[in-house]
Amino acid sequence: MASVLEVNNLTKIYGSDENRVKALDDASFSIEKGEFVLIVGSSGSGKSTLLNMIGLLDRPTKGKVFIDGIDTTKLGDNNISSFRNRKLGFIFQSSNLLSDLTVLENVLLPRQIGGTNGSAEKDARELIKAVGLEPQMNKRANKISGGQTQRAAIARGLINHPTIVLADEPTGNLDSVTSEMIVQLMKSMAKKLNQTFIVVTHEPKYFGVVDKIITIKDGRIFEAEQPSELEVIA
Ligand SMILES: Nc1ncnc2c1ncn2[C@@H]1O[C@H](COP(=O)(O)OP(=O)(O)OP(=O)(O)O)[C@@H](O)[C@H]1O
Ligand SMILES: [Mg+2]
Repeated sequence: MASVLEVNNLTKIYGSDENRVKALDDASFSIEKGEFVLIVGSSGSGKSTLLNMIGLLDRPTKGKVFIDGIDTTKLGDNNISSFRNRKLGFIFQSSNLLSDLTVLENVLLPRQIGGTNGSAEKDARELIKAVGLEPQMNKRANKISGGQTQRAAIARGLINHPTIVLADEPTGNLDSVTSEMIVQLMKSMAKKLNQTFIVVTHEPKYFGVVDKIITIKDGRIFEAEQPSELEVIA
């Protein structure tokens, strides 16, 4: 079976002439179904750039991104958003929940964009329960705490049974105790659902053991199984 993600010689250059920045430099790696992967590196190293290419939010300058064996660089602008909605779930630092909608309505949104079906609401209720938000199910998104907001974002990221969940600094706005709870929740959902996660973080210490750590330095990537292996690089 194909890897869920294959990144081949991915390069991203922003700007031109004196403003030219090579944010990603010939990155290649692959990720298998169910793996929990961290992307780490200092500010400006290219983490979000890499995640945005994998998330099909931006196009690479060079190289390819295969998701479920499909060459996404061949998808036209018309197909790319429906492919993204079906295959990818997103969790951001600030969750981007719509404040006037309830938790349940927010979690359902990606399903409605893709066309609803009878099981959508049942699935959403189950996911909300699984992330520990049952009491807040019908509360408006602007009436819940930061940690609860990220729980809702995790449920929303999972609602379409995506091939990959992509998270960019999902604990960036949270205190350390809440961060650890959100990390544990993502890891337990990953295990329970055999769900692939790729998480950008400044704080790998919260994550403990993961399947793969990709470190970026000046747009170049280094791969390891555990943080200790990367000390030689840092
Ligand atoms: N839209 C853009 N236009 C021009 N340059 C950009 C753009 N986005 C990012 N860059 C540059 O590309 C490089 C990598 O940026 P990126 O946002 O990927 O870093 P990052 O590792 O996510 O940093 P942080 O930890 O601060 O979020 C930086 O030098 C940045 O200034
Ligand atoms: Mg970033």
